[in-house]
Amino acid sequence: MIDPFGRHISYLRVSVTDRCDFRCVYCMAEDMTFLPKADVLSLEELDRLCSAFVGLGVKKLRLTGGEPLVRKNVMSLVRNLSRHLQSGALEELTLTTNGSQLAKYAGELAQHGVKRINVSIDTLDKDKFRAITRWGDLDKVIAGLDAAQAAGLKVKINAVALRGVNEDEIDAMMQWAHGRGMDLTWIEVMPMGEIGEQRVDQYLPLSLLRSRLQAHWTLEESDYRTGGPARYFTVKETGGRLGFITPMTHNFCESCNRVRLTCTGTLFMCLGQEDAADLRAVLRRSESDEELIAAIHSAIARKPKGHDFIIDRRTQTPSVSRHMSVTGG
Ligand code: 5AD
Ligand code: SF4
Repeated sequence: MIDPFGRHISYLRVSVTDRCDFRCVYCMAEDMTFLPKADVLSLEELDRLCSAFVGLGVKKLRLTGGEPLVRKNVMSLVRNLSRHLQSGALEELTLTTNGSQLAKYAGELAQHGVKRINVSIDTLDKDKFRAITRWGDLDKVIAGLDAAQAAGLKVKINAVALRGVNEDEIDAMMQWAHGRGMDLTWIEVMPMGEIGEQRVDQYLPLSLLRSRLQAHWTLEESDYRTGGPARYFTVKETGGRLGFITPMTHNFCESCNRVRLTCTGTLFMCLGQEDAADLRAVLRRSESDEELIAAIHSAIARKPKGHDFIIDRRTQTPSVSRHMSVTGG
């Protein structure tokens, strides 16, 4: 699959549920309305859709949410998808999680061929963690990390940079992550969905965070890539890797290789645009994949050049109306 800008689409992110057991302040409003169950694809339908994408050349599949591990029976989907790893059609099956259920599932994930996972942790302070996630328990997440590492999974920590919230922890978080052999990636907050709060008050440009770090640490530019938009540095003193995802301060769209599928079978060709293709109707219309494949190709042909995210005082409405939990980042 090649889009109109010559980008090869080899990465599919699949949100298996829009539900979550946390309510992170930058992601959701406290009183979220979730999708009725009838609108959500069954695990069999999700498998069929993912498999069609694998057939079209997707090499990397990431399950996201909401929180993917709160979807009932999600391990059966992981197990079924792992057949594409065994056949060699798929290079990587991975997951982005908030870690709350990891202690329970880490072993099974590793068993089904998952090698790396991303865990979202924005702070190491228990009270702050509760304040950011509203419902989360840091101890449980740390127990999940322990289980994941014990099962041999490589863990990368994702942290959203939040002004006045975790900017005082940038040194401590890095030392902690690198001390445990985990990469750490910082992400700029993106204006997605109404959250009942001002984005401009949350937004902390990573250029600032980086220059602060450089006062204490030697950041050596690295050409390490995971197939995502993060730019990596190796920190000389820790030997660990530090990533920056900068949708706001630096346009990361030129090398975009991905599309995103929601749990209702809607395909978003860009995280920062509203245009989407409904694959559920096509999927349910026919048992053959012919029409589905045609629909996927015509969606890829509409993939836009990039996002138009804006965060400033004058812009009061989010750049896209859906929340991050619809597509899982
Ligand atoms: N901007 C940036 N990152 C976000 N996430 C959720 N909402 C936003 C947002 N508005 C992050 C989570 C998680 C990943 C899936 O996306 O913290 O790391
Ligand atoms: Fe849940 Fe992740 Fe959104 Fe937090 S950022 S509410 S953990 S989906």
